[in-house]
Amino acid sequence: MFKIKVLFVAAELTPLAKVGGLADVIGALPKALAQLNIDVRIAIPKYGIVDEKKYKLKKITADLKIPFHHKIEKAALWKTTLPSSAVSVYLIDHPKFLGENGVYYENDASSGGTSKECRRFTFFVRAAMEIFGPLKWQPDIIHCHDWHVGILPALIKILNKQDPGNYPDFTTLLTIHNLAFQGKYVPKDVFSMLEIKESDWPTLKERFGKKKDLNYLQQAILNSDLINTVSPTYAHEILTSQYGENLESTLKKKSKILTGILNGIDTDRFNPATDPEIKANYSPKNFAPKQENKSDLQQSVNLPINSDVPVIGLVSRLTDQKGIDLICQIIEELATLEIQLVFLGLGSKFLEKELKKATKKHPKKIAAQLKFDAHLAQQIYAGSDIFLMPSRFEPCGLGQMIAMRYGTVPIVRATGGLKDTVQNYNFKTQTGTGFVFQNYKSLELLATIKKALAVFSDQNSWNKLIQNSMSQDFSWLHSAQKYFTLYQKALLKSSKS
Ligand code: GLC
Repeated sequence: MFKIKVLFVAAELTPLAKVGGLADVIGALPKALAQLNIDVRIAIPKYGIVDEKKYKLKKITADLKIPFHHKIEKAALWKTTLPSSAVSVYLIDHPKFLGENGVYYENDASSGGTSKECRRFTFFVRAAMEIFGPLKWQPDIIHCHDWHVGILPALIKILNKQDPGNYPDFTTLLTIHNLAFQGKYVPKDVFSMLEIKESDWPTLKERFGKKKDLNYLQQAILNSDLINTVSPTYAHEILTSQYGENLESTLKKKSKILTGILNGIDTDRFNPATDPEIKANYSPKNFAPKQENKSDLQQSVNLPINSDVPVIGLVSRLTDQKGIDLICQIIEELATLEIQLVFLGLGSKFLEKELKKATKKHPKKIAAQLKFDAHLAQQIYAGSDIFLMPSRFEPCGLGQMIAMRYGTVPIVRATGGLKDTVQNYNFKTQTGTGFVFQNYKSLELLATIKKALAVFSDQNSWNKLIQNSMSQDFSWLHSAQKYFTLYQKALLKSSKS
């Protein structure tokens, strides 16, 4: 049987190099695709933070020769397999360009920015084109993720034109995880790194902005054979000026090849019945032990231990995208209610300060833990009653799905993947999995929280809501099947198979 061969090219990978949700997708989707008999492999940079011993990295060659910036840069290629799978992971090793710092040079550099970031990812994609010889393996499809690898589809075309014998015209699929991050750089710097002429570049006309930067994500949109985002709603939203981040007109031209496929979550890792990170395991049939996790959480974050008071949790980057500003606007009102609030995350200094201030003022009601802490995150998912995700926009969102799996009822805004995964609770029919509000307004959020608290006070209804949310199936298999169809479509479209 013909087995489709796919190479994921991405900047992040759980557990080797995790920053955000992108890493979780790259670490989980290939496993599900492998179950569908796809030969899927992954290429990432070998950052300094990747633990060679822990992940049993093996060097395949130290002799990759990468033409870059009018020199031949030597690079190495390493290999491992994705933990608990047979999926091959290739790591490109160049200590200077790829090894320095963490995944990104800057803290919030998933958005691009400095010229070092540009050099890092430009080198990575150029080097990725040189690994197929040593590997004696070549994909049918190159699956690109986000702006970091956004120039790869154009580069494939350029190199194929120059030297078709060495550089096949790979079929490409672009997955957009977050349109807000684009990577904008000075074109002549990029061309010089890639050793190409401006006239070689296929799609320069559409650039916008005063400086006419080369926008890596825009170039990916213009040059990929197919495009998808991580939820059906976000795929529609990004065609509008409200969500399009100035790329809506580029996307509109490509709307025929743009679809949305919801992410899944790793249901083995996020399983309240077996999760070793939580105090008491539980299942949809018997979720009484959830209470033990609640008191464990209250104790961990220094809030009064009380099983009656509803605990509202949040695990997130603390940025405006995530609606943290909405919460800050109503925090004093919230502090007058009989609730406890637990926040976990890092982000904008302003929002961190606001949350810290509120914690100081209301130490018995609010606990803001300003850090990354995977263990505490699990305690919050398991021990809270309600999970907040009032995002301004949300391409997919993983937190709300994890929360539901742990019977923690989400309050979300109707945007992107939040809209596609959470069904608003209907008191009469007792259907629904959470609480959904429409407009990005703090008073709407407040009213929705109050509605949730009213249902919480009715034990039977709340139990039904927990059951509803815990019985959702968010496993990756559904998504993987849709990607499979998309790969087939891509191959047919480009007829390069
Ligand atoms: C980005 C998006 C998030 C999505 C994740 C994985 O982090 O902001 O909504 O779930 O990518 O696709």
